[in-house]
Amino acid sequence: MIVVTGATGNIGRALAGRLRGHDALAVVRRPADDLGIPYKLADFDRPETIGELLSPGDRLFLNSGIWPGFIDAHRAVIDLAAKAGVAQIVSVSVRDAAPGAKLGMGLHGVVDAHLRKSGVPWAILQPSGFMQTLPRDFKGGTMYGSYGPAPVNYIDTRDIADVAATLLTSPVGPDRDHLLTGPESLSHEGIAAEIGRALGRPARYVNLSVPEMAAHLERQGIPQEFAGELAELQARTGDGGWAATTTVVKDVTGRPPRTWPTFLADHTDAFMP
Ligand SMILES: NC(=O)c1ccc[n+]([C@@H]2O[C@H](COP(=O)([O-])OP(=O)(O)OC[C@H]3O[C@@H](n4cnc5c(N)ncnc54)[C@H](OP(=O)(O)O)[C@@H]3O)[C@@H](O)[C@H]2O)c1
Repeated sequence: MIVVTGATGNIGRALAGRLRGHDALAVVRRPADDLGIPYKLADFDRPETIGELLSPGDRLFLNSGIWPGFIDAHRAVIDLAAKAGVAQIVSVSVRDAAPGAKLGMGLHGVVDAHLRKSGVPWAILQPSGFMQTLPRDFKGGTMYGSYGPAPVNYIDTRDIADVAATLLTSPVGPDRDHLLTGPESLSHEGIAAEIGRALGRPARYVNLSVPEMAAHLERQGIPQEFAGELAELQARTGDGGWAATTTVVKDVTGRPPRTWPTFLADHTDAFMP
């Protein structure tokens, strides 16, 4: 059986759709009848509820949002999967994840390290930023950020789901990190121009210095320490370090990743105020 955690999220919902017709189970916190596969209730905050759903030979898709208990919960589920004899874990991490790195990259770095030495065969998906976060960022037609002028890569989460579906429905492959990117990297001004073209109305990106962006995030209600780190992180991913693209989506699925115009055509409503 293929067990899908985070099944109501961006990636999980698309993955569940791809697994229709397979022996698959969605793990959800609340009833979810619209996923296309059966579900059972469980919660990362009580890892044993997920462990109870795992049997020898299962394949596990490991993903959730991030919260303060993320590291402990994910490590515990990995340990329970090892104990249950799970045949492979396909997990979602992030590009440049490393123990000690800032914010989510640091949390994922610790969990990735735990998975690599768990004894369970693994595939770690390391995507760049999600196109699906852009409708929220361009709320009201304007996005503020401290990325600067360099190109930054974004990927459509449906491509991450396609990679996961291919890995989970093929014979277990070698342990591997998969650096997943969209097909092209654009500056945030370039992204705003693409959005404006697709929506037929103006969209603009306003670049702020790191301290200005931190103050902006604080005004949005983000606690001070995270606001500063997030603004710094944007400046770091915008220094060209997240510009390179890979061919991994096509190598794994046989199909190139979705382009900005495709993503925008499919998500026009999400950008509406
Ligand atoms: N956003 C980005 O640009 C970006 C870039 C690279 C990597 N990532 C990584 O991608 C992952 C998020 O993927 P996503 O966007 O597909 O997720 P998402 O849309 O944020 O959804 C999170 C999913 O996790 C579930 N979840 C959260 N806490 C849980 C808990 N305690 N127990 C059980 N389920 C729980 C949620 O369930 P409910 O519906 O019940 O809340 C939901 O299904 C994160 O690890 C993030 O670091 C994000």
